[in-house]
Amino acid sequence: MAPVKDLKAAAIFRQLFEQEPLIVRAPGRINLIGEHTDYTGGFVLPAAINRYVEVAISKSTDGKIHLFSTQFEEQIEINLDEIAKTTAGAWENCVLGTVAQLIKKQHAIKPFNMVIDSDIPAGAGLSSSAALCVAACTALNELFNLNLAPLNIAQVAQAAEHEYAGVKCGIMNQFASALGKRNNAIRLDCRSLSYEYVPLNLGDYTICLFDSGVRHSLASSEYNIRREQCQQGLEMIRAFHPALSSLREVTHPMLYHCVPDTIIRNRLEYILQENRRVCVAAPMLRAGDMKAFGEKLFESHNGLSTQYQVSCKELDFLVDQLKQHQPVAGARMMGGGFGGCTISLIHKEQLETVINAVSEAYEERFNRLPATYKVETSDGANAIKSPNPQTITL
Ligand code: GLA
Repeated sequence: MAPVKDLKAAAIFRQLFEQEPLIVRAPGRINLIGEHTDYTGGFVLPAAINRYVEVAISKSTDGKIHLFSTQFEEQIEINLDEIAKTTAGAWENCVLGTVAQLIKKQHAIKPFNMVIDSDIPAGAGLSSSAALCVAACTALNELFNLNLAPLNIAQVAQAAEHEYAGVKCGIMNQFASALGKRNNAIRLDCRSLSYEYVPLNLGDYTICLFDSGVRHSLASSEYNIRREQCQQGLEMIRAFHPALSSLREVTHPMLYHCVPDTIIRNRLEYILQENRRVCVAAPMLRAGDMKAFGEKLFESHNGLSTQYQVSCKELDFLVDQLKQHQPVAGARMMGGGFGGCTISLIHKEQLETVINAVSEAYEERFNRLPATYKVETSDGANAIKSPNPQTITL
């Protein structure tokens, strides 16, 4: 599946380093349902999409690591034994964090040159940073023959985000980017990491994302707070039920008996319901029942907004507007929240009409148009071109 824009990592690499690179692409992701459930060992239903991070890589000849980002037009030079976090939020931390993780796991990494390009909008909730970590890890895996399976790559990428980006994320994004499959969503059990592909039987419906344009700095701190609240809730219940291993096993009577704090109880109530929604929604998707599946998306949004409280007025407005259009089977905020995108299922025949009406209403209310993305699913991270004799194509 071709990227949306012409990715230029390989072309720029050739200009900068005058070498033929190995080229890897890792996709961003959407999440159909199962939000904020990954880090408590719950269920999720993401899919890789046709927006990618492209990385061009080769061994370096001067003993240093050279990184160049086409988006930020910035070059970084660093010695392998001096790798450390740089400024919070800086793009290079994903790559440096990935290298640090591989070194920690005793993999033989040598200095390298890398150019990065991407058509995944940053901060929109499409996992641009997870895709960058997965792309970097896949590229290093290929270049240095590390023999990592896609699941190992997802785990290294997740650890890199924990330690170098400071977000205690779950594994959903990295998993989708590394193991995605075209025309399929992945029903992933985040506790056992067992998964199955669920064919995307969308029938007459298209997946359309509306980007609120909001990029809240709250996102990572509030994210970590939600994770902490879930942990606190689990410990409160464990005081009465010591054998409990994850929130997935919590029942309503346990919740009401063991968790007196209303905020924490609401958070846990959301998690219980969202896990259940994933379990009933996946078969609906498989059966192509878009109306029933879409209803679950609306319910999920309601929980995210009122119980889990990770939405914002712009996302709530978009979902409320979408709900008023009969050709919309379902919609909800997607990803970590506090901004970014909504995901919606819209009947193909009325797609443009709905996009125009919702965009106009949004502009009237917030004085700016939301960007819209019609996404398609794609395969997970892969080498698309190797400088070695055999060439691999997506
Ligand atoms: C972010 C995290 C994911 C997941 C989502 C919410 O994208 O990186 O691990 O927790 O939020 O579902």
